[in-house]
Amino acid sequence: MQPMIRQYEVDTDRYAKCVATSKRVRFDIDRDVIRGRSFDFTTRFLPDGLSKVDRLDFLTSDEQRLLSQIQGRTYANIFGLVERFIAAKVLEISSEHWLGDQNALEALVRFGDEEIKHQELFRRIERLCAEGMPPGYTFLLEPNAVASAVLSKSTWGVLALTCHIEIFVLAHYRESIGPDARVSELWKDVFLHHWREESQHAIVDEMEWRREDAKLSADERDQGVTDLIDLVGAVDGLLQTQAGADADYFLKVCGRALTEADSARVRAGVLAAYRWQYIVSGVREPRFSQILSSMITGDQMNRIGNALAPIMN
Ligand SMILES: [Fe+2]
Ligand SMILES: [Fe+2]
Repeated sequence: MQPMIRQYEVDTDRYAKCVATSKRVRFDIDRDVIRGRSFDFTTRFLPDGLSKVDRLDFLTSDEQRLLSQIQGRTYANIFGLVERFIAAKVLEISSEHWLGDQNALEALVRFGDEEIKHQELFRRIERLCAEGMPPGYTFLLEPNAVASAVLSKSTWGVLALTCHIEIFVLAHYRESIGPDARVSELWKDVFLHHWREESQHAIVDEMEWRREDAKLSADERDQGVTDLIDLVGAVDGLLQTQAGADADYFLKVCGRALTEADSARVRAGVLAAYRWQYIVSGVREPRFSQILSSMITGDQMNRIGNALAPIMN
């Protein structure tokens, strides 16, 4: 039987628009974002909409703020980590445009360049966090090890995960970081500038994912769905590891001994917040689910839904 190959035409104007916007919003880490500042540790880093610290009502306001700073430090480190595999994948697939559409090629080259810069930005944030926080924080995940595991999966699966990530990044800034008045000014500026450059990434992700999808047979696409499910499961494993480390660190440095029950609520609260941040908030974004459902069958959508059910609840 002939595999069904869908037709896909490169939308050169849409890539060109991404290039033009990318040039207009481009930022320099020192000149535009950090501007010689350091963090104000009397403010929150991750807004309550993402950290969910307001649900832990047995914590004082100062303790909630500390937990939002710990989660914020991990938030920056997680982005630095995922951008390692995203940059590598984007540079890899750019080869398919080398001798083809030059607007698409430029959009992907700029995308890769921006992700390399963002990784440096997040390393700077980690250093600024370390200056003002008590010793003992550990980020347990190794970007190259994670990237090697992710990149061993099919391009369809990796682009699906990437599109998911870059769509929730936009939602996080728009709905939570931007509007929260209690969030540190420097923190807000970091994610405002990041959001501006990420807006083009989400558009390019969709175009590249659809272009990849159009090349696949039904069986290859089904393997892509399996890979996406495996990748989300692996992300959840990473989140469990880091949530445990961050909760331990908080309990050690928060300044008092919490009861066993409250300590358990902190652990559960941090894991639930990380699942919300890195999995659930993206899956719930209509923009992502619409792209995904337009490419796969109802059965495949159910397969993904069933795999996600234990995480979504
Ligand atoms: Fe980025
Ligand atoms: Fe990005």
